[in-house]
Amino acid sequence: MSAGLGAVPQAPGHLPLLGHTAAMLRDRLGFLASLPAHGELVRLRFGPQTMVLVCDPELVQQVLRDDRTFDKGGPFFDRAREIVGDGLASCPHDRHRRQRRLCQPAFRPTRLPDYTGAITGAACEETAAWSDGDVIDIDRAMPAVANRALARTMFSSRLPAETTGQITEDTTTLMNSVIRRMLTPAPFDRAPTPGHLRYERARRRLRQTVTGIVADRRADGAVDHDLLSALLSAADPETTGDGPRSLTDEEIADQLVTFFIAGTETTAGLLSWVLYELARHPGIQERLHAHTDGVLRGRLPQAAELPALTYTEQVINESLRLHSPVWLLTRTVTTDARLGGVRLPAGTAIAISPYTVHWNPALHPRPRAFDPDRWNSRSADRSAYLPFGSGPRRCIGDRFALRETAVVLSVLISSWRFAMVTERPPRSALSASYVPRGLRLRVHARRPGLGGGP
Ligand code: HEM
Repeated sequence: MSAGLGAVPQAPGHLPLLGHTAAMLRDRLGFLASLPAHGELVRLRFGPQTMVLVCDPELVQQVLRDDRTFDKGGPFFDRAREIVGDGLASCPHDRHRRQRRLCQPAFRPTRLPDYTGAITGAACEETAAWSDGDVIDIDRAMPAVANRALARTMFSSRLPAETTGQITEDTTTLMNSVIRRMLTPAPFDRAPTPGHLRYERARRRLRQTVTGIVADRRADGAVDHDLLSALLSAADPETTGDGPRSLTDEEIADQLVTFFIAGTETTAGLLSWVLYELARHPGIQERLHAHTDGVLRGRLPQAAELPALTYTEQVINESLRLHSPVWLLTRTVTTDARLGGVRLPAGTAIAISPYTVHWNPALHPRPRAFDPDRWNSRSADRSAYLPFGSGPRRCIGDRFALRETAVVLSVLISSWRFAMVTERPPRSALSASYVPRGLRLRVHARRPGLGGGP
């Protein structure tokens, strides 16, 4: 016999009407990371909405692997679909497999070398204006690099700078609005407030821009080594009858908006957190300088050299553990199910946070310490590590994001040393991803730069 939902303990810090909204707004990561102490499953309330947070790492894997029972759905996805339609990240299980097969070729490891030059160029352009001793707004610079890198990877170098800038602006507006809209009851989020009008304008304009880009490329028929060409030419090897064998233009537009939303703020956040930790830990930064210099010998990073940047990889992995940009995953139970001895009725909203796992001292000793040596190949245990999720809905851009971060970081670290301006930790806005706000770092020139350094 399994117990019902009522047997799942309610998380502490619950207030009448507000539920756990105040606790989440105060310190969402600390709050989420504290909850495994209260049970394998814990109940959370946001206004009238109840969610079950899965804390036990094995149950987390069970949920993420069984996407038929624990499907995408619920308030977050209702909001996300307003922006990305039925793209890969938001579509339900029954439409997912075909889309995943059609998008996968664009992210094959063999394609990654094609994208390396675009990423290097994006990093060099951003640093071209830096001078020794400058204080850099990292939370402006890293999104600029990530947006430029992804725009060029998707559309080669064909987009005018102002279009890339506009895509960036609209993506940022949408990312900043989506969580607030998720926590606001539906009738209120349609009121003509300045925030709602900004959101609607950004949503419409982004869709129009991307639809126009797809139509133009179809019309000129050019084939480039970019992500858009990979999507336009994708042909489904399977004939399972779950949809056309290639992506329609509308589906391609959904995927492109999805990749922008899923892939820019997250990667920019990762880069910003890495630079923050390097500035806070000069010894680790020193070691990374020596490692990067030893592998690259003063050249720009080439695709073939990236596997040798092993310490760079450890630094990135550790930052993803300590500052996972995706802090909450949500699912909906599609049919009455059992999880850890509890009966969950269909329609139950499920939440998972990497922070319940990544900051758990039983799984990662001294969890709040930044220690890249956790990830040297001898000691690394990946079973309690989910910055990119797990199972069939795992991030399709994981390798791309890791490559982008390693390339950008190598370009930056080869020419610059990063130092703290203030000991105050950066703030973090309530956004769909966990990214630092107000992070400024001082840069010191190390030596004549690579393709646009000091
Ligand atoms: C550091 C950077 C990134 C992080 C931390 C990250 C994290 C994640 C996570 C945790 C998921 C799973 C969500 C869930 O299960 O509900 C996910 C899914 C996804 N990500 Fe990423 N991501 C990153 C970069 C990217 C990039 C660069 C792209 C594309 C260019 C991308 C595209 C996607 C897509 C399309 C999905 C949905 C996959 C599916 O449902 O089949 N992500 N990402």
